[in-house]
Amino acid sequence: MTETAAATAERPAKPHLPDAQTVTSVKHWTDRLFSFRVSRPASLRFRSGEFVMIGLMGDNGKPLLRAYSIASPAWDEELEFYSIKVPDGPLTSKLQHIKPGDEIILRPKPVGTLVHDALLPGKRLWFLATGTGFAPFASLLREPETWEKYDQVIMMHTCRETGELDYGRQLVESLRDDPLIGEMIGDKLLYYPTTTREPSARMGRVTDNLSSGKVFADLGLPKMNPEEDRAMVCGSLAFNVDVKAILESFGLEEGANSDPKQFVVEKAFVGDGI
Ligand SMILES: Cc1cc2nc3c(=O)[nH]c(=O)nc-3n(C[C@H](O)[C@H](O)[C@H](O)COP(=O)(O)OP(=O)(O)OC[C@H]3O[C@@H](n4cnc5c(N)ncnc54)[C@H](O)[C@@H]3O)c2cc1C
Ligand SMILES: NC(=O)c1ccc[n+]([C@@H]2O[C@H](COP(=O)([O-])OP(=O)(O)OC[C@H]3O[C@@H](n4cnc5c(N)ncnc54)[C@H](OP(=O)(O)O)[C@@H]3O)[C@@H](O)[C@H]2O)c1
Repeated sequence: MTETAAATAERPAKPHLPDAQTVTSVKHWTDRLFSFRVSRPASLRFRSGEFVMIGLMGDNGKPLLRAYSIASPAWDEELEFYSIKVPDGPLTSKLQHIKPGDEIILRPKPVGTLVHDALLPGKRLWFLATGTGFAPFASLLREPETWEKYDQVIMMHTCRETGELDYGRQLVESLRDDPLIGEMIGDKLLYYPTTTREPSARMGRVTDNLSSGKVFADLGLPKMNPEEDRAMVCGSLAFNVDVKAILESFGLEEGANSDPKQFVVEKAFVGDGI
Protein backbone atom coordinates (compact mmCIF):
# COMPACT_ATOMS: atom_id res chain seq x y z
CA MET A 1 0.00 0.00 0.00
CA THR A 2 1.34 3.49 -0.81
CA GLU A 3 1.81 5.96 2.02
CA THR A 4 -1.08 8.10 0.78
CA ALA A 5 -3.47 5.17 0.43
CA ALA A 6 -2.51 3.90 3.90
CA ALA A 7 -3.15 7.32 5.38
CA THR A 8 -6.54 7.48 3.65
CA ALA A 9 -7.51 4.02 4.90
CA GLU A 10 -6.62 4.92 8.52
CA ARG A 11 -8.31 8.34 8.54
CA PRO A 12 -11.77 8.11 10.12
CA ALA A 13 -14.55 9.07 7.69
CA LYS A 14 -15.46 12.77 8.12
CA PRO A 15 -18.82 12.75 9.94
CA HIS A 16 -21.60 14.24 7.82
CA LEU A 17 -23.07 17.22 9.68
CA PRO A 18 -26.79 17.30 10.44
CA ASP A 19 -28.59 19.89 8.24
CA ALA A 20 -25.28 20.37 6.36
CA GLN A 21 -24.87 23.03 3.67
CA THR A 22 -21.74 23.57 1.60
CA VAL A 23 -19.79 26.85 1.63
CA THR A 24 -19.49 28.23 -1.93
CA SER A 25 -17.53 31.46 -1.30
CA VAL A 26 -15.98 33.53 1.49
CA LYS A 27 -14.87 37.18 1.50
CA HIS A 28 -13.01 38.89 4.33
CA TRP A 29 -13.82 42.60 4.56
CA THR A 30 -11.81 43.63 7.65
CA ASP A 31 -10.01 41.80 10.45
CA ARG A 32 -13.35 41.53 12.25
CA LEU A 33 -15.90 41.18 9.42
CA PHE A 34 -16.48 38.59 6.67
CA SER A 35 -19.28 37.38 4.42
CA PHE A 36 -19.90 33.94 2.95
CA ARG A 37 -22.35 32.08 0.77
CA VAL A 38 -23.64 28.52 1.19
CA SER A 39 -25.86 26.13 -0.74
CA ARG A 40 -29.59 26.52 -0.05
CA PRO A 41 -31.74 23.58 1.07
CA ALA A 42 -34.32 22.94 -1.67
CA SER A 43 -37.13 23.03 0.90
CA LEU A 44 -36.10 26.29 2.61
CA ARG A 45 -38.66 29.09 2.21
CA PHE A 46 -38.12 32.40 4.01
CA ARG A 47 -39.19 36.03 3.90
CA SER A 48 -36.44 38.55 3.11
CA GLY A 49 -35.23 39.98 6.45
CA GLU A 50 -35.61 36.79 8.52
CA PHE A 51 -32.89 34.93 10.44
CA VAL A 52 -31.94 31.27 10.95
CA MET A 53 -29.67 29.31 13.29
CA ILE A 54 -26.34 28.32 11.76
CA GLY A 55 -23.13 26.88 13.15
CA LEU A 56 -20.50 24.19 13.31
CA MET A 57 -20.05 20.96 15.24
CA GLY A 58 -18.59 21.80 18.68
CA ASP A 59 -15.62 20.03 20.20
CA ASN A 60 -18.09 18.13 22.44
CA GLY A 61 -19.78 16.61 19.38
CA LYS A 62 -22.88 18.81 19.75
CA PRO A 63 -23.91 21.49 17.23
CA LEU A 64 -22.74 25.00 18.23
CA LEU A 65 -25.41 27.28 16.76
CA ARG A 66 -26.02 31.04 16.65
CA ALA A 67 -28.73 33.25 15.16
CA TYR A 68 -27.79 34.80 11.79
CA SER A 69 -29.78 37.11 9.54
CA ILE A 70 -29.99 35.78 6.00
CA ALA A 71 -28.27 38.55 4.00
CA SER A 72 -29.44 37.26 0.61
CA PRO A 73 -32.96 37.87 -0.73
CA ALA A 74 -35.68 35.20 -0.73
CA TRP A 75 -35.31 34.61 -4.50
CA ASP A 76 -31.56 33.83 -4.44
CA GLU A 77 -30.58 30.22 -5.13
CA GLU A 78 -27.82 30.38 -2.48
CA LEU A 79 -27.80 31.84 1.04
CA GLU A 80 -25.48 34.68 2.07
CA PHE A 81 -24.39 35.64 5.58
CA TYR A 82 -22.45 38.65 6.90
CA SER A 83 -20.51 37.90 10.06
CA ILE A 84 -18.51 39.38 12.88
CA LYS A 85 -15.30 37.66 14.03
CA VAL A 86 -15.26 37.70 17.82
CA PRO A 87 -11.66 36.71 18.74
CA ASP A 88 -12.67 34.37 21.57
CA GLY A 89 -16.27 33.83 20.43
CA PRO A 90 -17.25 30.15 20.68
CA LEU A 91 -18.60 30.05 17.10
CA THR A 92 -16.95 32.85 15.15
CA SER A 93 -13.40 32.07 16.35
CA LYS A 94 -13.86 28.91 14.20
CA LEU A 95 -16.38 30.07 11.61
CA GLN A 96 -14.00 32.79 10.40
CA HIS A 97 -11.72 30.04 9.00
CA ILE A 98 -14.31 28.35 6.71
CA LYS A 99 -13.36 27.87 3.05
CA PRO A 100 -15.32 26.91 -0.09
CA GLY A 101 -16.17 23.21 0.07
CA ASP A 102 -16.48 23.16 3.88
CA GLU A 103 -19.81 22.33 5.51
CA ILE A 104 -21.79 24.37 8.04
CA ILE A 105 -24.97 23.46 9.92
CA LEU A 106 -28.11 25.38 8.95
CA ARG A 107 -31.38 24.78 10.78
CA PRO A 108 -34.06 25.51 8.17
CA LYS A 109 -36.52 27.34 10.46
CA PRO A 110 -36.48 31.04 9.49
CA VAL A 111 -38.10 33.59 11.84
CA GLY A 112 -37.93 37.33 12.53
CA THR A 113 -39.70 40.67 12.73
CA LEU A 114 -37.82 42.63 10.04
CA VAL A 115 -40.32 41.65 7.36
CA HIS A 116 -42.67 43.64 5.16
CA ASP A 117 -45.70 41.85 6.67
CA ALA A 118 -45.01 43.52 10.04
CA LEU A 119 -45.40 47.07 8.67
CA LEU A 120 -48.48 49.00 7.57
CA PRO A 121 -48.28 50.50 4.05
CA GLY A 122 -46.33 53.78 3.90
CA LYS A 123 -44.53 56.18 1.58
CA ARG A 124 -40.93 55.97 2.83
CA LEU A 125 -39.09 53.02 4.40
CA TRP A 126 -36.09 53.66 6.68
CA PHE A 127 -33.50 50.91 7.27
CA LEU A 128 -31.50 51.85 10.42
CA ALA A 129 -28.43 49.72 11.20
CA THR A 130 -25.10 49.59 12.99
CA GLY A 131 -22.32 47.09 12.34
CA THR A 132 -23.50 43.62 11.21
CA GLY A 133 -27.06 44.90 11.72
CA PHE A 134 -26.75 45.68 8.01
CA ALA A 135 -27.29 41.96 7.20
CA PRO A 136 -31.11 41.80 7.11
CA PHE A 137 -31.12 44.95 4.97
CA ALA A 138 -28.69 43.33 2.52
CA SER A 139 -31.58 40.91 1.98
CA LEU A 140 -34.39 43.49 1.95
CA LEU A 141 -32.51 45.90 -0.38
CA ARG A 142 -32.43 43.06 -2.96
CA GLU A 143 -36.11 42.16 -2.40
CA PRO A 144 -38.46 43.40 -5.18
CA GLU A 145 -41.32 43.91 -2.68
CA THR A 146 -39.26 46.69 -1.02
CA TRP A 147 -39.23 48.69 -4.26
CA GLU A 148 -42.83 47.89 -5.20
CA LYS A 149 -44.20 49.05 -1.85
CA TYR A 150 -42.31 52.29 -1.21
CA ASP A 151 -41.60 55.57 -3.06
CA GLN A 152 -38.31 56.04 -1.19
CA VAL A 153 -36.02 53.76 0.81
CA ILE A 154 -33.40 55.33 3.10
CA MET A 155 -30.47 53.11 4.20
CA MET A 156 -28.71 54.57 7.27
CA HIS A 157 -25.70 52.46 8.30
CA THR A 158 -23.22 53.52 10.97
CA CYS A 159 -19.93 51.93 12.03
CA ARG A 160 -16.94 53.12 13.97
CA GLU A 161 -14.59 53.02 10.96
CA THR A 162 -14.91 53.41 7.17
CA GLY A 163 -13.66 49.87 6.38
CA GLU A 164 -16.61 48.47 8.32
CA LEU A 165 -18.99 50.13 5.84
CA ASP A 166 -17.44 48.41 2.77
CA TYR A 167 -19.71 45.34 2.57
CA GLY A 168 -22.81 47.55 2.68
CA ARG A 169 -21.41 50.18 0.33
CA GLN A 170 -20.44 47.61 -2.30
CA LEU A 171 -23.84 45.95 -2.06
CA VAL A 172 -25.68 49.28 -2.41
CA GLU A 173 -23.50 50.23 -5.40
CA SER A 174 -24.26 46.89 -7.10
CA LEU A 175 -28.05 47.28 -6.82
CA ARG A 176 -28.50 49.49 -9.87
CA ASP A 177 -26.81 46.87 -12.08
CA ASP A 178 -29.00 44.08 -10.69
CA PRO A 179 -31.04 42.67 -13.59
CA LEU A 180 -34.02 41.94 -11.34
CA ILE A 181 -34.39 45.15 -9.35
CA GLY A 182 -32.05 47.72 -10.96
CA GLU A 183 -34.86 49.36 -12.96
CA MET A 184 -37.35 49.21 -10.08
CA ILE A 185 -34.96 51.16 -7.84
CA GLY A 186 -34.54 54.15 -10.16
CA ASP A 187 -33.90 57.13 -7.86
CA LYS A 188 -35.81 55.67 -4.90
CA LEU A 189 -32.74 54.71 -2.85
CA LEU A 190 -31.09 57.22 -0.50
CA TYR A 191 -27.91 55.81 1.09
CA TYR A 192 -26.63 57.50 4.27
CA PRO A 193 -23.51 55.76 5.63
CA THR A 194 -21.72 57.38 8.59
CA THR A 195 -18.74 56.70 10.84
CA THR A 196 -18.37 57.69 14.46
CA ARG A 197 -14.67 57.28 15.24
CA GLU A 198 -12.71 57.49 11.98
CA PRO A 199 -13.15 60.75 10.04
CA SER A 200 -15.22 60.33 6.84
CA ALA A 201 -17.45 62.34 4.48
CA ARG A 202 -20.49 61.87 6.76
CA MET A 203 -20.21 61.33 10.47
CA GLY A 204 -22.35 60.78 13.55
CA ARG A 205 -24.57 58.23 15.21
CA VAL A 206 -27.90 57.32 13.57
CA THR A 207 -29.62 58.53 16.75
CA ASP A 208 -27.94 61.96 16.68
CA ASN A 209 -28.56 62.43 12.95
CA LEU A 210 -32.25 61.61 13.43
CA SER A 211 -32.91 63.64 16.57
CA SER A 212 -30.99 66.71 15.37
CA GLY A 213 -32.85 66.58 12.04
CA LYS A 214 -29.52 66.54 10.15
CA VAL A 215 -30.41 63.51 8.02
CA PHE A 216 -33.73 65.07 6.95
CA ALA A 217 -31.97 68.32 5.98
CA ASP A 218 -29.15 66.50 4.17
CA LEU A 219 -31.57 64.33 2.15
CA GLY A 220 -34.28 66.98 1.61
CA LEU A 221 -36.93 64.93 3.40
CA PRO A 222 -39.66 65.99 5.85
CA LYS A 223 -39.26 65.02 9.51
CA MET A 224 -40.37 61.42 10.08
CA ASN A 225 -44.10 61.12 10.69
CA PRO A 226 -46.48 58.20 11.36
CA GLU A 227 -48.57 58.82 8.24
CA GLU A 228 -45.75 58.47 5.71
CA ASP A 229 -42.70 56.86 7.34
CA ARG A 230 -41.98 53.23 8.22
CA ALA A 231 -38.74 51.92 9.78
CA MET A 232 -36.83 48.72 10.44
CA VAL A 233 -34.10 48.81 13.10
CA CYS A 234 -31.19 46.40 13.65
CA GLY A 235 -28.22 47.01 15.94
CA SER A 236 -26.96 46.44 19.47
CA LEU A 237 -29.50 46.42 22.30
CA ALA A 238 -28.43 49.93 23.33
CA PHE A 239 -28.83 51.19 19.75
CA ASN A 240 -32.25 49.58 19.39
CA VAL A 241 -33.50 51.07 22.67
CA ASP A 242 -32.30 54.56 21.76
CA VAL A 243 -33.68 54.44 18.20
CA LYS A 244 -37.03 53.11 19.42
CA ALA A 245 -37.39 56.10 21.77
CA ILE A 246 -36.65 58.52 18.92
CA LEU A 247 -39.09 56.85 16.51
CA GLU A 248 -41.76 56.97 19.22
CA SER A 249 -41.04 60.67 19.76
CA PHE A 250 -41.87 61.12 16.04
CA GLY A 251 -45.22 59.38 16.68
CA LEU A 252 -44.37 55.97 15.16
CA GLU A 253 -45.50 52.78 16.96
CA GLU A 254 -43.73 49.43 17.14
CA GLY A 255 -45.38 46.59 15.22
CA ALA A 256 -45.00 42.83 14.94
CA ASN A 257 -45.85 40.02 12.54
CA SER A 258 -49.22 39.60 14.25
CA ASP A 259 -49.85 43.35 14.64
CA PRO A 260 -48.35 45.45 11.81
CA LYS A 261 -47.61 49.11 12.70
CA GLN A 262 -45.04 51.75 11.77
CA PHE A 263 -41.69 50.26 12.83
CA VAL A 264 -40.04 46.97 13.82
CA VAL A 265 -36.85 46.17 15.73
CA GLU A 266 -34.46 43.20 15.90
CA LYS A 267 -31.21 42.69 17.82
CA ALA A 268 -28.06 42.33 15.69
CA PHE A 269 -26.49 40.39 18.58
CA VAL A 270 -27.04 39.55 22.24
CA GLY A 271 -24.66 40.84 24.89
CA ASP A 272 -22.94 43.86 26.38
CA GLY A 273 -26.25 45.11 27.83
CA ILE A 274 -27.21 48.75 27.62
C1 LIG B 1 -31.62 37.71 15.82
C2 LIG B 1 -30.12 37.71 15.72
C3 LIG B 1 -29.52 37.82 14.46
C4 LIG B 1 -28.12 37.82 14.34
N1 LIG B 1 -27.56 37.98 13.11
C5 LIG B 1 -26.21 38.06 13.00
C6 LIG B 1 -25.59 38.28 11.73
O1 LIG B 1 -26.26 38.36 10.69
N2 LIG B 1 -24.24 38.40 11.69
C7 LIG B 1 -23.47 38.30 12.82
O2 LIG B 1 -22.25 38.43 12.73
N3 LIG B 1 -24.03 38.08 14.02
C8 LIG B 1 -25.37 37.94 14.13
N4 LIG B 1 -25.93 37.69 15.36
C9 LIG B 1 -25.02 37.40 16.49
C10 LIG B 1 -24.66 35.91 16.46
O3 LIG B 1 -25.79 35.16 16.86
C11 LIG B 1 -23.45 35.54 17.36
O4 LIG B 1 -23.53 36.20 18.58
C12 LIG B 1 -22.12 35.88 16.69
O5 LIG B 1 -21.98 35.07 15.54
C13 LIG B 1 -20.93 35.61 17.62
O6 LIG B 1 -20.94 34.24 18.00
P1 LIG B 1 -19.81 33.68 18.96
O7 LIG B 1 -20.25 32.32 19.41
O8 LIG B 1 -18.49 33.77 18.28
O9 LIG B 1 -19.80 34.67 20.19
P2 LIG B 1 -20.98 34.98 21.23
O10 LIG B 1 -20.69 34.27 22.51
O11 LIG B 1 -22.31 34.72 20.59
O12 LIG B 1 -20.79 36.54 21.42
C14 LIG B 1 -19.73 37.06 22.21
C15 LIG B 1 -19.86 38.57 22.30
O13 LIG B 1 -19.48 39.15 21.04
C16 LIG B 1 -20.26 40.31 20.76
N5 LIG B 1 -20.97 40.08 19.48
C17 LIG B 1 -21.62 38.97 19.08
N6 LIG B 1 -22.14 39.13 17.83
C18 LIG B 1 -21.78 40.38 17.45
C19 LIG B 1 -22.01 41.14 16.26
N7 LIG B 1 -22.72 40.61 15.21
N8 LIG B 1 -21.53 42.39 16.19
C20 LIG B 1 -20.81 42.90 17.22
N9 LIG B 1 -20.56 42.25 18.36
C21 LIG B 1 -21.03 41.00 18.49
C22 LIG B 1 -21.24 40.46 21.94
O14 LIG B 1 -20.68 41.38 22.85
C23 LIG B 1 -21.30 39.09 22.55
O15 LIG B 1 -21.59 39.12 23.91
C24 LIG B 1 -27.32 37.68 15.50
C25 LIG B 1 -27.93 37.56 16.77
C26 LIG B 1 -29.31 37.59 16.88
C27 LIG B 1 -29.93 37.49 18.25
N1 LIG C 1 -15.58 48.30 15.78
C1 LIG C 1 -14.33 48.02 16.16
O1 LIG C 1 -13.39 48.48 15.54
C2 LIG C 1 -14.05 47.12 17.35
C3 LIG C 1 -12.78 46.68 17.55
C4 LIG C 1 -12.51 45.79 18.61
C5 LIG C 1 -13.53 45.39 19.45
N2 LIG C 1 -14.79 45.84 19.24
C6 LIG C 1 -15.83 45.36 20.16
O2 LIG C 1 -16.87 44.68 19.46
C7 LIG C 1 -18.16 44.98 20.05
C8 LIG C 1 -19.11 45.51 19.00
O3 LIG C 1 -18.49 46.60 18.31
P1 LIG C 1 -19.17 47.25 17.04
O4 LIG C 1 -18.32 48.40 16.63
O5 LIG C 1 -19.52 46.21 16.05
O6 LIG C 1 -20.59 47.75 17.64
P2 LIG C 1 -20.98 49.02 18.50
O7 LIG C 1 -20.07 49.24 19.66
O8 LIG C 1 -22.43 48.80 18.79
O9 LIG C 1 -20.78 50.26 17.51
C9 LIG C 1 -21.25 50.29 16.16
C10 LIG C 1 -21.72 51.67 15.84
O10 LIG C 1 -22.92 51.93 16.57
C11 LIG C 1 -22.80 53.13 17.28
N3 LIG C 1 -23.58 53.03 18.50
C12 LIG C 1 -23.28 52.26 19.59
N4 LIG C 1 -24.25 52.41 20.51
C13 LIG C 1 -25.14 53.27 20.01
C14 LIG C 1 -26.35 53.83 20.53
N5 LIG C 1 -26.82 53.51 21.73
N6 LIG C 1 -27.02 54.68 19.75
C15 LIG C 1 -26.55 55.02 18.53
N7 LIG C 1 -25.43 54.55 18.00
C16 LIG C 1 -24.72 53.67 18.74
C17 LIG C 1 -21.32 53.31 17.53
O11 LIG C 1 -21.04 54.66 17.76
P3 LIG C 1 -19.86 55.13 18.79
O12 LIG C 1 -18.56 54.93 18.09
O13 LIG C 1 -20.23 56.58 19.03
O14 LIG C 1 -19.99 54.29 20.03
C18 LIG C 1 -20.72 52.76 16.24
O15 LIG C 1 -20.69 53.72 15.22
C19 LIG C 1 -17.90 45.97 21.18
O16 LIG C 1 -17.92 45.25 22.40
C20 LIG C 1 -16.50 46.51 20.88
O17 LIG C 1 -15.82 46.85 22.07
C21 LIG C 1 -15.07 46.69 18.20
